[in-house]
Amino acid sequence: MATARLGLGFVCGLLLTLLVLQTLVFWHYSGEGASPLIRTRPTASRHNAHIDQPWHFDTARDANNIAFTASQCDATFPNLYAEIDRSVKLWRDKKHTITAEDTSIAWRRDAAFRLLIHNNTLRILETKDAMNDAYRPRVLAVMNQLHNALLGAQVSGEQLPDIEFAVTVDDMSLIPNGNDTHAIWAFTRRLVDRDQDRCWMIPDFNFWQGGPPGTGSFYEAGRRARRNDGAVAEKIPKVVWRGVAWTNEGLRGPLLEKTEGKTWADVEETVWENRTNFMELDELCKYAFVLHTEGRSWSGRLKYLMNCDSVPVVHDLDWTTHWYHLLVPKGKQQNYIPVKRDWSDLDKKVKHHLIDTPAAQRVAERAVGTFRDRYLTAAAEACYWRRLVKGYSEVAVTPEIYDLSVAREERLRGISFEEFVLLGTDWQSPAENGR
Ligand SMILES: *[C@@H]1O[C@H](CO)[C@@H](O)[C@H](O)[C@H]1NC(C)=O
Ligand SMILES: *[C@@H]1O[C@H](CO)[C@@H](O)[C@H](O)[C@H]1NC(C)=O
Ligand SMILES: *[C@@H]1O[C@H](CO)[C@@H](O)[C@H](O)[C@H]1NC(C)=O
Repeated sequence: MATARLGLGFVCGLLLTLLVLQTLVFWHYSGEGASPLIRTRPTASRHNAHIDQPWHFDTARDANNIAFTASQCDATFPNLYAEIDRSVKLWRDKKHTITAEDTSIAWRRDAAFRLLIHNNTLRILETKDAMNDAYRPRVLAVMNQLHNALLGAQVSGEQLPDIEFAVTVDDMSLIPNGNDTHAIWAFTRRLVDRDQDRCWMIPDFNFWQGGPPGTGSFYEAGRRARRNDGAVAEKIPKVVWRGVAWTNEGLRGPLLEKTEGKTWADVEETVWENRTNFMELDELCKYAFVLHTEGRSWSGRLKYLMNCDSVPVVHDLDWTTHWYHLLVPKGKQQNYIPVKRDWSDLDKKVKHHLIDTPAAQRVAERAVGTFRDRYLTAAAEACYWRRLVKGYSEVAVTPEIYDLSVAREERLRGISFEEFVLLGTDWQSPAENGR
């Protein structure tokens, strides 16, 4: 069953790749007059004042465009790259250039791999116990996300620098502590942990797919969620949450207790085995308030809640991701309602905003404008990956491209992404052994 689904995933991935490649060819050879894949600023012309408009991001038209130019990426998502800037600064301040040795994953037991980007293409150097049932979906998701972004770079004519780097798809990086220079790309880092500062934040695998079977891709789930769009005052006047407690008993347990029997809350624990209290992601959007909780570390849930036009309610977070710096808890740009980790102010804050619905509506609208319509689009995700490749290259050594163990010919290190996805198992080149 899982294999069948994965098989289908491969076929879809392949079709998407073919589609993008076809577009690429079209882009180059469709000749004058063909509509461009991406609209760039038309050349200024005094005689055609009506077309002399600066390019601007139009969500309906551009949200899924993974092939922005670098300057469109910069102009459209000015606040997206804070985590990349933080990482670059960290290594600069350290006065340390990330070496091939620093990308070793010998310290990880599993769920990690090493990649090479060369000439805008992805190559796999090594995977370490990453293609088992637990991690394979995450590995394939992340590689496909990156692959898409690289195709976008290629289509838009941007040549990205070559880099070599390590990735983990575990909930926690477990990066070595102390005086250490290992670097790894990870979904999340714990804010108070200085060692985890060495993690480079990547868009998590839930941007490819998350949620129960049938959810579809993240961006597809977003389209479905919009069916429940409406004014906050028209939505079910409650805060909603579904999930399991065990992934973070200390946080989720008290949430279930504090909301039990309350008129302003619809908070239930899901039993997956018999689908007790199960609710589709888009059904959550029928509620005025959607509540986010961390899991074992971060949780992929929040971006799915942001697909609603409801009011996001988020407890104080211990873990961050590549986009959480965009959450604004108060002031004119407030885009969610913050609550304490012990839920002691949840009751008061929900009740207050149930009465002051204009205030709640403003928060919801800013959340939609910031997240769903801009920073959580496929366009933004692709731009982030590309900037990450560039930022990382600024503080990392230029990698060796060729497999030096093969004397006769110039053979590239590792195997191509295309070959790896067909292989479908863990892979390690003899030449990369012991890294
Ligand atoms: C890089 O890729 C392009 C095609 O996209 C190809 O023409 C070029 O030869 C490649 N360069 C190297 C160094 O592999
Ligand atoms: C960390 O390692 C570097 C180089 O090995 C050394 O110069 C520095 O003193 C060390 N710092 C600490 C706090 O141990
Ligand atoms: C579902 O499973 C849970 C846990 O085993 C059980 O407590 C509950 O009664 C079940 N519900 C139904 C409707 O079968």
